Amino acid sequence: MTKPNIISLIAAMSENRAIGLNNALPWEPIAADWDNLKMVSKGKKMIMGRKSYDNPHRLWSEAGNYVITRQENYVVDEGFEVVRSLEEAFEKCKNEAEVFVLGGEEIFRWAIPYADRIYLTIVHDEFQGDAFFPEFNESAYEIIERKEFQIGENTPYPISILTYQKKS
Ligand SMILES: NC(=O)c1ccc[n+]([C@@H]2O[C@H](COP(=O)([O-])OP(=O)(O)OC[C@H]3O[C@@H](n4cnc5c(N)ncnc54)[C@H](OP(=O)(O)O)[C@@H]3O)[C@@H](O)[C@H]2O)c1
Repeated sequence: MTKPNIISLIAAMSENRAIGLNNALPWEPIAADWDNLKMVSKGKKMIMGRKSYDNPHRLWSEAGNYVITRQENYVVDEGFEVVRSLEEAFEKCKNEAEVFVLGGEEIFRWAIPYADRIYLTIVHDEFQGDAFFPEFNESAYEIIERKEFQIGENTPYPISILTYQKKS
């Protein structure tokens, strides 16, 4: 399989690894996290599961977006393209310097073995969830950037934004 130069996952999870509840985020919007996501993913293509796409607060990129589904004839909005697998999306992004996998849980589980980089926001509280960020082998990565935000710094919760880079 040919693939992009850097495969990045980007997610926000709580202390108990929750990322979603009822196809929405478990917490109130966190502006500091959105700002970071927009900054690091600017101009990069995005890959997401159908459930994350089929969400009123979906994320998308002006550079292009891929939606993974098993459904035949699934119709997506302009700016999105249907693919049958993560690997098909990677093939279509093979000339990209970096591509972002946006989740949700099913797609993160699939993508972890490919992840060169993981941008992970930790929301320092526990939340009820029905979707979770998978455990991954943190010793295979080094944290190359860490940003801390306290309540009031554009966030209603304390958060840490970590960048994990796969060790070579
Ligand atoms: N906090 C965060 O950073 C973050 C980020 C993203 C999402 N989320 C949350 O995560 C939740 C959604 O996660 P999720 O795990 O339920 O759904 P998801 O990963 O977004 O999408 C799952 C869908 O992907 C498709 N899919 C999965 N495996 C496939 C395969 N092998 N081949 C083809 N298609 C496949 C299927 O679509 P079809 O059913 O159409 O076949 C499946 O229903 C939501 O609550 C959302 O808000 C949180």
